[in-house]
Amino acid sequence: MKLDIGRSQDFLSSLSQISQMDFQIWAVDKGMVFSSRVDQPKEISLKEVQDFSARIISRAAFQHASPEGENGLFGVPIKNGEKVIGSLIAFSSNSRSAQVALDGTTYAEEMERFLTHTAGLLEEKLVSTYEVEQMADELSQNFEELCFYARIASRVKTITFSANMLRDLVEELPETMRTDIAFTWLPERQEYNALASTEEAVEKIPEQELFVENLIKSMPVNSPSLKEDYFIVNDSTLTPGYQDQAPEPYRFLAVKMKHDGKFYGWMGLVSFNLKEIFRRSELRLLNSMAEQIAVVITNSDLYRDLERFVINMVKSLVFAIEAKDDYTRGHSERVCRYSLLMAERLGLDEEQKKVLQWSSILHDSGKIGIPESILNKPEGLEDEEYQVIKNHPMKGHTILEPLEQLASSLPGMLHHHERYDGTGYPQGLRGKEIPLEARIIAVADTFDAITSDRAYRPAKSPEEALAVMEEVAGSQLDPDLVTVFKEVYTQDLQLSPECSLQK
Ligand SMILES: [Fe+2]
Repeated sequence: MKLDIGRSQDFLSSLSQISQMDFQIWAVDKGMVFSSRVDQPKEISLKEVQDFSARIISRAAFQHASPEGENGLFGVPIKNGEKVIGSLIAFSSNSRSAQVALDGTTYAEEMERFLTHTAGLLEEKLVSTYEVEQMADELSQNFEELCFYARIASRVKTITFSANMLRDLVEELPETMRTDIAFTWLPERQEYNALASTEEAVEKIPEQELFVENLIKSMPVNSPSLKEDYFIVNDSTLTPGYQDQAPEPYRFLAVKMKHDGKFYGWMGLVSFNLKEIFRRSELRLLNSMAEQIAVVITNSDLYRDLERFVINMVKSLVFAIEAKDDYTRGHSERVCRYSLLMAERLGLDEEQKKVLQWSSILHDSGKIGIPESILNKPEGLEDEEYQVIKNHPMKGHTILEPLEQLASSLPGMLHHHERYDGTGYPQGLRGKEIPLEARIIAVADTFDAITSDRAYRPAKSPEEALAVMEEVAGSQLDPDLVTVFKEVYTQDLQLSPECSLQK
């Protein structure tokens, strides 16, 4: 901080007139920054005052000297906290320097008291200037904080912002913001709750989640700062409701996470270091972060809705395509149903079943991009037309690839026309290289195709279909899965529920 006495000039000039003394202020490394006289008092040279100031600054205490005759030179340090930032020097032509007052105090002692008091007043006036300058310093010097913020900004812009990413951000806060605990607390969106703390903080407060919850719940509803979306406790021992929550005094700052009028929760910091305070710049930084995150949460919700909407659109389109053709109506739903029955027999877990459910219902979604004239052609297909049909797994993949929620369901869809012997499409995968879901769908798809009417042939009976499937087990289909399907057909099919979809 540099010593700028701009606001204190008038005060010192008046004081000079009243006290009939002259004053000078010297700043560390900057020399004289104020003099109540236009000319330098002739009794003493500038160089001598400079040395005198250096002495005050280095000793950080009241000094006096009588360089010439009885003219006194007195000075005290000007401080900001513990740091000396300059000196206040008084010249006195009063010849009382050596006198002792009736109460026993010397003139020097009187001057010390007077100058110390005056320096105190100056220091108070300097505080506001200091704060502004410090903030500027922080902004320019605290590069780390700015970089951190930039990283957040770039991360929160990504549409796939997740709870894990938020946790990563919060993890970085204690170190970056020099605090002991950092948290986000969203009562209705607990997936976004995050907490990071230093080891010392964990030792002091083992149950941190509870501690944070109590900090939030203890906020007085009528606190004026809440209107500005933050709450601050500078010293827990002095703040009602906060005294007994930790074994040691702490300070606490929390800001609201809200966007577009929607309140999500709180983001906050706790520190056991009471020598520092929460600065306005930190409040601003935290506020910005909280708002950015609230924006992203709002966007994620919208994005998820949008994704759901797109998935439903695709599903509807698949059903619409099938519905146009008597021969394929209900095909995807039946394939889904058979696939899930097989999954049950195979003992797949809920997550795998969900993946299979979506890949089977959407397995032919690429047919959206294939002309109806080819899809519904009653006779055999030309080579070129067959090539177009063969494109449908790839086309479906392209349509659904941007949807994050379907990512794990894509392989089952993409590979449902691979053959067990490696002669299928699109990639010619072989045996167990073909994803399990794709092998299951292939079995279910084959059964439904054979047992459905086609323009060029009537439906075959399930028994005939099973016989065909046994023939192609090991070449077209996974033989183990054909066996599983036979069990499904003989034991489960009549009882099974319809394929209902929830995402
Ligand atoms: Fe297909």
